[in-house]
Amino acid sequence: MRVVILGCGGFVGSHLLDNLLDDPRYQIEGWDPEDRKIRRHLVNPRFTLHRTVAHAPEALVEVERAIVHCDVVINLAAICNPADYNTQPLAVIRANLFDVYPIVELCAKHRRWLVSFSTSETYGRTISSYLPASSDADPDLYELREDETPLIMGPIRNQRWTYACAKQMTERLIYAHHTEEGLPFTIIRPLNFFGPRMDYIPTRDGDGVPRVLACFMAALLSGEPMQLVDGGHARRTIVSIYEAVDAIRRVLEKPEASQNQIFNIGNRQNEVTMAELADLMRRTYATITGDPRYNDHPIVTTSAEQFYGKGYEDCDRRMPDIGKAERLLGWVPTMRLPEILLGTMRSYHDEYAVPKAA
Ligand code: UGA
Repeated sequence: MRVVILGCGGFVGSHLLDNLLDDPRYQIEGWDPEDRKIRRHLVNPRFTLHRTVAHAPEALVEVERAIVHCDVVINLAAICNPADYNTQPLAVIRANLFDVYPIVELCAKHRRWLVSFSTSETYGRTISSYLPASSDADPDLYELREDETPLIMGPIRNQRWTYACAKQMTERLIYAHHTEEGLPFTIIRPLNFFGPRMDYIPTRDGDGVPRVLACFMAALLSGEPMQLVDGGHARRTIVSIYEAVDAIRRVLEKPEASQNQIFNIGNRQNEVTMAELADLMRRTYATITGDPRYNDHPIVTTSAEQFYGKGYEDCDRRMPDIGKAERLLGWVPTMRLPEILLGTMRSYHDEYAVPKAA
C-alpha cells in the first residue's frame, strides 16, 4: 500500500511509521520539516521524507504527484497544543484550516482517499456542562457520538475554540467534497492519546507550555509543583498511543468499512479528572524511581488565566461512544491507565533523568 503522510514527524506520525514500516507491504512518502522523532526510519528504503511543510506553494507540485500515485493520504499536520489556541489564534486557524484545504482539494480532484486527523475538541463542551449537576447522570447529555452529538463551542472572545472551530470547518469541507464530488474520506477524532515521544519537556527540548502529560512530567523531573488548572476538575479519557495506532492500521486495512466514516478513537475505561491524573502520575513516578518521596510531590492549583492567559475555556469532559470503531474496525482498546502511564513515564525518565553513556 502506498501511503502519503503529511506531518509524519510528530508524536502520532512517529508511532504510525514504527507500526507501518514494520510491514513490507507499506511504502511511505512523508512530509515534515522536523525529523527528530523519526530518525531511525530515514535509512529505510520504503520511506521517503520531504523535509518541508506540504502546504507551501513550492511543495504542492510534488505533493500532488505523490497524491496521484498513492492509495491513501493521511493528514497529521496541525498545531494541536491548547497553550497556542488563545495566544496564537491566527497561526492555529491557518494551520488547522487554510493550510489543510489545498490538500483536501487535491484529494478531491484526484478522488484519493483522505484520512484526516481531527480532534475530540470539535465536540466542544458537553450539554450537561450547561445544566445543573444532576444532568451528569444521563449519557445523552455528555456522551460524544460521532454522527449525533451537537458541537458546542464558547463565545468568540474565548479563543480556546479557534482550534476546535478550524478543525470542525475542515471536517465540514471534507464532508462537502464527499457529498458533492465523491471524495472518499475517513475522519479520526482522537481522544487524548498518551505515549512516549508526546510533546517535549520545557527548557530541555522545547519552550512554552506542552500538553498535560508533559507538563506534569516536567514538574516531576524538575522538582517544581504540578499545577492543576482551575482545581483540576476537567475530565479526560486516556488511550494508549499503541492501541490508537492499531486503530489507524485497521482503518487503512478495512477501507470498505472505514471509508466515509468519522471515528472516535479513545478509551472509555480510562476516565480521570486532572487532579486524579496528577496523583496517579506522582505515585507512578515513585514506583519508577524507587523514591517514595514522589508520592507526596507537591500539587498546587492555579487559574486558567494565569496558566494559559486570557481567552482559555476548558472542555469539561470527553466520554466517547466508540461503538462504531468496535463494530466496523473490530477495535477494542484494553490498556488501562496505570499501565499506559508506567510505560510512558518510564520512557520520559530514561530520556530525561537517566544520564546518557558517553
Ligand atoms: C488536547 C488538544 O487540544 C489536542 O492535542 C487534542 O486534539 C485533544 O486534546 C485530544 O487529544 O483529544 P486537552 O486535553 O485540553 O486538549 O489538552 P491538555 O493540554 O492535555 O490538557 C488537559 C487538561 O489538563 C486541561 O483541563 C488542562 O487545563 C489541564 N492541565 C494542563 C492542567 O491541569 N495542568 C497542566 O499543567 C496542564
